[in-house]
Amino acid sequence: MRLKHVKGSQEKIAADIHTIQTDGLEKSPRGSWHKLFGNDNPIHIEIGMGKGKFIMDLARENPDINFIGIEKFSSVLVRAIEKLEELEKEENSENSSNMKVGENQVNIAGSEENENSEIDENFEKNIDGKMIEISDEISNYNSFEGKIPYKNIIFMRMDAEEIEKYFDKDEVDRIYLNFSDPWPKKRHSKRRLTSSYFLTKYKNILNPEGILQFKTDNNDLFDFSLKEIEKNNWTLLENNRNLHENGPAKDNIMTEYEERFYNMGKPINRLRAKYIQV
Ligand SMILES: C[S@@+](CC[C@H](N)C(=O)[O-])C[C@H]1O[C@@H](n2cnc3c(N)ncnc32)[C@H](O)[C@@H]1O
Repeated sequence: MRLKHVKGSQEKIAADIHTIQTDGLEKSPRGSWHKLFGNDNPIHIEIGMGKGKFIMDLARENPDINFIGIEKFSSVLVRAIEKLEELEKEENSENSSNMKVGENQVNIAGSEENENSEIDENFEKNIDGKMIEISDEISNYNSFEGKIPYKNIIFMRMDAEEIEKYFDKDEVDRIYLNFSDPWPKKRHSKRRLTSSYFLTKYKNILNPEGILQFKTDNNDLFDFSLKEIEKNNWTLLENNRNLHENGPAKDNIMTEYEERFYNMGKPINRLRAKYIQV
């Protein structure tokens, strides 16, 4: 992916209510994700979400699942933030146009006064970019009822390398990897997100029933991933070499890259795997 410097992306990330800025983060949300979301719903994460279409579509369709989108580069993450802002603006304006005159208006980022000053205080913290100080007094993200329609989605700017720093043992129910960078040179194979190096990290944060799902157009990367899965004691639940053979697969949400490759007629591989406890 070609990266462009996006002016003001750091500030935008720091100010965004959905985003945890890991740079300078003193206390990790590790072990506190359910408190942060304010519920016990399953936690699904996508590593390398790019502009975030996949995870936002999933979050809209599955309000009872908490989604965390992880992206290494600020300049890419900021595109996902902008997209989510647009979606929330649309939903908020739909909601408010459906309201009767005199009914409480839906609040968008500090636009209206709220009767609940405690929530407002947290909200101010969030828009100041201080939502990151979450482990002392966990701010209940889910209590922003009506203000953020997508209250089941959080973004993080971080490198997959650091995943165990931010997620505790058994804390995650599903990991999605979509069209991860192939790192074709052998000497870079450890950097592939399906290498043994990363599989060990995923095993440590997935709960015993947890699932890893991986999609790619890259056959070499897929072959490599199958070998690594087997070598590391994971069991394959699905091994599909042409997901859209008979038209767009039904149990699937396309990512930005997937749409592009699908339109070019490239076969898409998908695997699902579960770690076998030893
Ligand atoms: C080829 S793009 C695919 C984007 C998206 N998943 C899709 O399918 O449209 C790979 C994305 O993974 C991100 N990425 C690569 N290595 C990463 C890492 N170690 N940790 C987090 N994100 C990473 C890249 O910045 C990029 O946005």
